Amino acid sequence: MNPLAPSAVQAFRKRINAHYRAGGRDLPWRNTEDPYRILVSEVMLQQTQVERVIGKYGEFLAAFPDFPALAAAPLPRLLRIWQGMGYNRRALMLRALARTVVADHQGRLPADPEILRGLPGIGPYTAGAIMAFAFNRAVVFLDTNIRRVYLDAFFPGREKVRDAEILPLLLQTLDRRNPRRWYNALMDYGALLKAGRANPNQRSAHYARQGRFENSDRQARGRILKALVAGSPLSAAGIVRATGVEAARVEKNLLALEREAFIERKGRRYVLRA
Ligand code: ADE
Repeated sequence: MNPLAPSAVQAFRKRINAHYRAGGRDLPWRNTEDPYRILVSEVMLQQTQVERVIGKYGEFLAAFPDFPALAAAPLPRLLRIWQGMGYNRRALMLRALARTVVADHQGRLPADPEILRGLPGIGPYTAGAIMAFAFNRAVVFLDTNIRRVYLDAFFPGREKVRDAEILPLLLQTLDRRNPRRWYNALMDYGALLKAGRANPNQRSAHYARQGRFENSDRQARGRILKALVAGSPLSAAGIVRATGVEAARVEKNLLALEREAFIERKGRRYVLRA
């Protein structure tokens, strides 16, 4: 794609910033520059809706206020607090990350995207978000909200738009003086577009709907962990009774949860790992 005309860059920025000035959201993770708190919010927001994250964020930070506290968290307590967020693997991943930061980085997240990407569970998006929101650095990164904004503004009517086509536009429109503010504004404009009409992200080459939840393995895993968070060891049959999930699906997901170090077998029964 050809470079944008300076007037096009200006008009685009003006539209995004005007919306932010008029209706920017006051979100709890916008009142901090603590890299730990930013990290927790971004991992939560990856797969859970903003409203639900707002409800959990304070509770999580009260329980685990910093990297050392999270690194020392017993799994049952961690999962109890994570309940309702879904995708429990993220909680384990966050704890593994906290342990690495404490052991190898003096308890502080490095302000370096390359190093961040080498840490457990941190991909290009999360590394970029930490650089922008915690360190106010002018990096380029893309999530579902940001993608929606660029598809809407620069690719009307186009299908199968690749991220590789969007990234040069991100680079050209980036506000280098205040990247933190710019990305907050993009996120809010993206949320606005989602609320409005047909979701522009359907025209991304990378578009995938989240799978059906009813009777899914994801639902089964959530219910199994919830049953075990209650504390007492349960047999497979006990878990079937407690969850209402069919036996074959329980067996399959117990194996997966054991492999991923969420749970362990004690004789015939299962418990959460410490
Ligand atoms: N989704 C992912 N990161 C976000 C953020 N920082 N603000 C709002 N929505 C988000």
